[in-house]
Amino acid sequence: MSSEARVKESGEVIWDALRLEQEALADVPTLELFDVDAERARDFSLEAAGLYLDYSKNHVSRTAVDLLLKLADACDVPERIAAMFRGDRINATEDRAVLHTVLRDRSGRELLIDGEDVCAVATRERDRMLSFVDDIHNAKRVGATGKPLTTVVNIGIGGSDLGPVMIVEGLRPYWIAGRRSFFVSNVDGQHLGDTLVQLDPETTLFIVASKTFSTQETMTNAQSALDWFLAQGGSREGVRDHFVALSTNQEAVAAFGIAPENTFGFWDWVGGRYSLWSSIGLSIALQVGRSHFLELLGGAFAMDEHFRHAAPGDNMPVLLALIGIWNRNLEDIGVHAILPYDQHLHRLPAYLQQADMESNGKSACLNGHWSALKTGPVIFGEAGTNGQHAFYQLLHQGTDLVSCDFIAAVNSQGELGDHHPKLLANLLAQPRALMCGKSLDQVRRELVAQGMDAAAAEALAPHKVFEGDRPSNTILMERLTAESLGALVALYEHKIFVQGVIWGINSFDQWGVELGKQLASELLPLINGAVKPAPGGGESELDPSTAQLLDWIRRHRAV
Ligand code: F6P
Repeated sequence: MSSEARVKESGEVIWDALRLEQEALADVPTLELFDVDAERARDFSLEAAGLYLDYSKNHVSRTAVDLLLKLADACDVPERIAAMFRGDRINATEDRAVLHTVLRDRSGRELLIDGEDVCAVATRERDRMLSFVDDIHNAKRVGATGKPLTTVVNIGIGGSDLGPVMIVEGLRPYWIAGRRSFFVSNVDGQHLGDTLVQLDPETTLFIVASKTFSTQETMTNAQSALDWFLAQGGSREGVRDHFVALSTNQEAVAAFGIAPENTFGFWDWVGGRYSLWSSIGLSIALQVGRSHFLELLGGAFAMDEHFRHAAPGDNMPVLLALIGIWNRNLEDIGVHAILPYDQHLHRLPAYLQQADMESNGKSACLNGHWSALKTGPVIFGEAGTNGQHAFYQLLHQGTDLVSCDFIAAVNSQGELGDHHPKLLANLLAQPRALMCGKSLDQVRRELVAQGMDAAAAEALAPHKVFEGDRPSNTILMERLTAESLGALVALYEHKIFVQGVIWGINSFDQWGVELGKQLASELLPLINGAVKPAPGGGESELDPSTAQLLDWIRRHRAV
């Protein structure tokens, strides 16, 4: 029997055992699991890279965790982790290595990819970028009219936007006084238009951030920003002082008119949604400074080292991934909420939406077969406590289970009166309520004790029942710093990777975004009217619904 077949078979045996364990646990409340296991809270929590994870509120037993660890082994998780750090071309469908970890590697190691030491290359480009940052901060580099460049507009989308904006928001306490950052992503002209009205062209630096430098939204926004700059009195020569590019595609950058000295590169072994650590992080470094940018990388490196070297049973990203596998594949939970109890992390859910859903929203396995397992869940979320007054009703009493990650810093970056203890009380209360719930009997008793008559209590009681056993993780850190934020993001990156390994999919491609892009480019000339509608109003090649919508758009468009 080949080793591949052996691994596959043992994986199936483990899945069967997991299913049996899930059935055995079905009628056992999570709280009871604490009753029979005094060490559960302690043993189902761990610290790494300045983060503390408690996963004990998931409806999972020790047997289940042991089986999940065996599953990780059967799926070769340790070997796949090593392969990623080694620079193997684990992004098989694009034939690329996956080395965003190199961008924050402080080990001083050498790693040859295609004969080139990527660690040295990454360090050189980061140094170039940070010198540029210093020059802007020291006004060694100024705008065309000699004024300091105090405002940055990052034009990018997806990974060229979500990471930088999330980090810049997360590190608000470290913002350099007098500096402003804007992030323009949407091709909807209102996004750029609403931004431009707030800008002074003489003090604005536009960063065109695009790995491919061909993304429709970014190129459209970049061209309109350039047109605006020129229309505001900027000169052609001045473009050199006000536009820089971040890309792997130097040719396309040059064709756009941005010179090599104003271009900061990265490489095909950095996926777009894993690129905030690269030159794509220029807007971060400009807003918070060189040292905080390096601390961000340092925090991620600490998590990388932990992920690379800790045994699976003590490995935070591996355990977080396995708990997610349990919730997704054994408990059949298809939605996962990211709930940061930190206003500065308000963009984290959107960032993780791309990181997770673009990585693991796949149906085809690496072996070319259709996945027999459910893969990535829907990710959504909102900062607490705002979410509590929006969608938590469904989290507590809805008919579908939603697994949750509660995230918080124990100390606020801006303590104000008793705000933070209140925030933390909510952070503790919600997962506790989700797990403990409140039974029908309990509710009835409470209502009667409050003076309600028995019949009324009976009628109202079902509406006040909380089933409980709704799973959640809690992730804490002492304080939201550049370092802890770096570690947090790396934790999720690695969690997503491990889940992809277990599902047998490639977490590093994104073919699923292509068809929509292709159809949009086919539809654009029809909307513009460059192509005339077929007789009868509809487009012969289009499905009837799209043809009808197009027809309605054309008849009602005023321009
Ligand atoms: O949405 C698809 C995608 O390719 C993402 O993976 C990527 O982050 C985004 O578009 C932006 O791509 P680029 O940086 O090449 O403009």
